[in-house]
Amino acid sequence: MKVGLLTGGGDCPGLNAVIRAVSKALILQHGAEVIGFKDGFQGLIERRYSKLDYRDVSGILTQGGTILGTHNRANPFDYYKRDGADVSDEVMEFYRDLELDAIVAIGGDGTMSICHEMTQKGMNVVGVPKTIDNDVVCTDRTFGFDTAVSIATEAIDRLHTTGESHDRVMILETMGRYSGWIALHAGVASGSDVILLPEIPYDIEEIARVCREREDRQEFTIIAVAEGARPKGGDLTVRERVDDPDDAVRLGGVGNAVREALKPRLDSEIRTTVLGHIQRGGTPTAFDRLLATNFGAYAAALVAQGEFDRMVALQDNSITSVSLEDVANTHRQVPLDSMHIASALAVGTSFGNPDVHMDVEHLGGSVELG
Ligand code: F6P
Repeated sequence: MKVGLLTGGGDCPGLNAVIRAVSKALILQHGAEVIGFKDGFQGLIERRYSKLDYRDVSGILTQGGTILGTHNRANPFDYYKRDGADVSDEVMEFYRDLELDAIVAIGGDGTMSICHEMTQKGMNVVGVPKTIDNDVVCTDRTFGFDTAVSIATEAIDRLHTTGESHDRVMILETMGRYSGWIALHAGVASGSDVILLPEIPYDIEEIARVCREREDRQEFTIIAVAEGARPKGGDLTVRERVDDPDDAVRLGGVGNAVREALKPRLDSEIRTTVLGHIQRGGTPTAFDRLLATNFGAYAAALVAQGEFDRMVALQDNSITSVSLEDVANTHRQVPLDSMHIASALAVGTSFGNPDVHMDVEHLGGSVELG
């Protein structure tokens, strides 16, 4: 058996842990030959790859980034280096020349969509869901998310002590694209006073009201804001527009927008921190190492069983697989009946929207991973 491996999209903690798990399981359990493509689908398009031996994937479990490199614009159906040309037939030709039995692709929703399209052309693909954003559908978790939440939580904890010393309003902007998972989890874990999510458009007057009430009690305020949060009736804050048909905007800047809007409404000084790519770097948490190892070993088993056009997934605390078709071209947002939202509301956290109220029905139940 000969299997190719690639990592696509933005990097995230735990990619190397999956590369290690898939490769070791294929080599040890199935005597497979494993090769790694460089820089995601770009390596398949440009024919850049190298063999991955057992020793190549030893000692990388704890390393951040990806030893294979990655790329978030190398789409074979719309190749940016050739004016958006469809080079998928060339990719299939190379796949056949290499006599590959399958490819394991580790990536986010964009990578999973490409994988599903490649399966239509005859490629045998198994996907593994990664992203700090936790926004891939059909899985309760993506690896990388837990690490990003830990980093964001620690950052807010640190903002707490400096904010408290100066009685300031401290705003932390997290990543997450169009979903608020990182801000919600880190916001609740750090006891933030206000959490702003893409799923709940905010009302600046309501945020100001919360801050003023705290000012009156000589209390500082911590605001966790997801980069995809937007005001009621307003737009997303865009950092830059890029020439990428799949993802034409880079989000960022809402933390400063909230600060500017709050300034005339408050007496307190306000400071914004944009956490940025720190959330994506460095060693994965123990949870992400476990999840990555479980995902990787399962992906290897799917390959060995000939089950393709599938993505490994975590559902109800079990590792399983789902159809890539169900994952392609969609993303997952925080449900408004989330237990975390209900629990946060119960302890007095504001979501910057006076219409959001605690519903006791949403409290309790099984521990919500998603
Ligand atoms: O999807 C992961 C992510 O880190 C998002 O949270 C963020 O919006 C985006 O990637 C940043 O992309 P880039 O690394 O291209 O700036």
